[in-house]
Amino acid sequence: MILAKLLVYYAHPGHKYSHANKAMVEVAKTVDDITFVDLLAEYPRHTINVEKEQERLREHDVILFQFPLFWYSTPSIIKEWQDLVLEHGFAYGSEGTALTGKTMMLAITAAGPVEAYTTEGYQHFPLRTFLTPLEQTANLCHMTFPAPYVLHSSLKAQSDGGIADHAAGYGRLLSAIRDNTYDFAATMDKDIVTHADLPIKGA
Ligand SMILES: Cc1cc2nc3c(=O)[nH]c(=O)nc-3n(C[C@H](O)[C@H](O)[C@H](O)COP(=O)(O)O)c2cc1C
Repeated sequence: MILAKLLVYYAHPGHKYSHANKAMVEVAKTVDDITFVDLLAEYPRHTINVEKEQERLREHDVILFQFPLFWYSTPSIIKEWQDLVLEHGFAYGSEGTALTGKTMMLAITAAGPVEAYTTEGYQHFPLRTFLTPLEQTANLCHMTFPAPYVLHSSLKAQSDGGIADHAAGYGRLLSAIRDNTYDFAATMDKDIVTHADLPIKGA
């Protein structure tokens, strides 16, 4: 079996207080043959090593960012990473083809419930609307952007068993991406995927 090279970038400034992402990280660390990078553990003062990260990107096919939604966006170190690593001539521009054909995927936890992220809901916009800067970043870098893996109601999930299901699904997702059995194409017209509807071939 030919394995895909999967790079997971994790960012959570409150990792020690985390429930959902901590459970996901524990599962991710049991998945063999993937690269897991805790950005804040590696760069606690956000001093990102651009050359090292660009080399990591070159070496991987699928780049997955795992984070809790903070103010409708990523924790700030992911923005810093974008600003520094996705250089002109590397990631975009006429000579910037290093990421062409690769995949950018997100794994997000959000305290807001699924119905809040609608025009009528209290967040007023669909979750995907808040993610358009990341989606267009992927487009500009000639990367595909499949539906994100999302846990809504992430705080409530601490008490209703949702975290265990989501973390187990995360393990299946990472393993399937690595094994080239995750059907990215089947998610391109979806807003999000969850542990209950992961399109894994042969599952
Ligand atoms: C600074 C901050 C900003 C947040 N912004 C949002 C937000 O915009 N939308 C949302 O649904 N939840 C928001 N949350 C809630 C987090 O997404 C939630 O705490 C997290 O998903 C829980 O995961 P964890 O158990 O791994 O910490 C925010 C939390 C913090 C601390």
